[in-house]
Amino acid sequence: MSRIFTLNAIAAATLLSASVHAADFSFKGHSGAKTLVVTQIKGQALPTTAFAEQTASQLSKAAAAARFDASQGSTLELLAPVDSDYERILVVGLGEKDELNAANMAKLGGNIHAKLQTLKADVVDVSFANIEGQINNAQLTAQFAHGANLRDHSFDVYKKDAVKTAISYHFAVDDAQRAAQAYSALAHIEQGVFLARDLTSEVASEMTPVDFANAAKELEKYGVEVTILTPKELKKLGMGALEGVGRGSEHGARLVVAHYKGSDSAPIALVGKGITFDSGGYSIKTGASIARMKSDMAGAAAVLGTVKAMALSKAEVNVVGVMGMAANMVSQTAIAPGDVLRTAEGLSVEVVNTDAEGRLVLSDSMWYAREYFKPQIMVDIATLTGSKVRAVGNRYSAIFSEDDQLVSEFTAAGKVVNENVWRLPLGYKDMLKSDIADIKNIGSGGPGATTAASFLQHFAGDTRWVHIDMAGNALASSAKGEVNVGGTGYGVRLLSEWLLKTK
Ligand code: BES
Ligand code: MN
Ligand code: ZN
Repeated sequence: MSRIFTLNAIAAATLLSASVHAADFSFKGHSGAKTLVVTQIKGQALPTTAFAEQTASQLSKAAAAARFDASQGSTLELLAPVDSDYERILVVGLGEKDELNAANMAKLGGNIHAKLQTLKADVVDVSFANIEGQINNAQLTAQFAHGANLRDHSFDVYKKDAVKTAISYHFAVDDAQRAAQAYSALAHIEQGVFLARDLTSEVASEMTPVDFANAAKELEKYGVEVTILTPKELKKLGMGALEGVGRGSEHGARLVVAHYKGSDSAPIALVGKGITFDSGGYSIKTGASIARMKSDMAGAAAVLGTVKAMALSKAEVNVVGVMGMAANMVSQTAIAPGDVLRTAEGLSVEVVNTDAEGRLVLSDSMWYAREYFKPQIMVDIATLTGSKVRAVGNRYSAIFSEDDQLVSEFTAAGKVVNENVWRLPLGYKDMLKSDIADIKNIGSGGPGATTAASFLQHFAGDTRWVHIDMAGNALASSAKGEVNVGGTGYGVRLLSEWLLKTK
């Protein structure tokens, strides 16, 4: 037999290429150095229809000898037959059929991509033919490709030797056209995630409120209307809380507004905390935690990334991102603990602790969103409290709302994209009474994440509102699943999924 190893399934399909570098979408013939990924469902036999009989039984025997059980994410390297096109075979366990959902497939795609990078694979054929779970074969393949692409993205601008080799993937699927369609929808979301990640990973001295505003301006080419308010303009509108926090740095605060109007319905406002560096101000942070505070603008980054994703998707949604940008620094002009700031809403705020600055910038940003856009729903997202991290860690963000419907929509959306939310209570407004002003910016007792949320509630008015505290979710110190180290882009997939599926 001249060719014992043919791969008819793959050869026959027009293959979806989830090539990892955008420019590299086509197959680069690389004879004898390809990797074959064979996927196997738990309890089922190794799919061997593509192999000649004897090779097939040899592979099955090797898998059995290695006690490979096909549990989800498990892998087994097998020698490729000598006269095949492949240098190796990687068997990947898919787990049980009912584990085949979007979130798991993206995670698997990320982890297998990392494995293939370690193996220095560059051309990879993956077979998903005849496999279906909770989602159909096309979606399952697209999610795997999505996970691989998400995992591949890295922020390398400060690294000397950051040449990455692209991996070209070719997928054998039941319906290549449907798979390609499903993937192209996800590719738009990826662009939003990459933007949010890069903005978050960038160091604070290169990502000031002005730099962030310039990055937002870039979205104009996708039909997004971008408005930037300077400190002078903020003052004029009475936005003394945002302007006040901005006074700690020479750049001053900015309000960045990015409006993508893909429908005529009342807008949905996404409000993001954009502290480009949080030193704590005069209530200065001590210890190691300060070093990660370039990521304190990740809420704003999630908002901008989501607006970009919606614009690229040409989604039929009317979404406005309102981002309150400032650097919380120590300086001659910075606010002092005990100062009173006036919000545009009309409430005065005693700044008992300058490190509780996120709620200050959000208060005026939420006011602006309501005043100028009359949104049907307002969602704010912020790296708001250390208390949130202590309460639920970083496998969840915390969600606060009196609107059960919205909480369940976000809970469902989070499960689809591996960005899970966990509900925490509101209800501590009375802990914010101040002796000198209308309210103060920290609670006299009460759980920190909740007093922060209760503070924000003053500025939600009667608008349907959800607060998401994503402290701890913004910056990853190790890679996992579809998320690489550095800025995670957390929130873009959650908000996009929610907008696309429920709005
Ligand atoms: N940006 C921090 C919250 C944070 C902590 C984000 C850890 C990510 C990781 C926020 O501005 C802050 O400093 N919050 C204080 C509030 C306190 C002074 C009431 C906190 O949570 O300690
Ligand atoms: Mn702070
Ligand atoms: Zn902060």
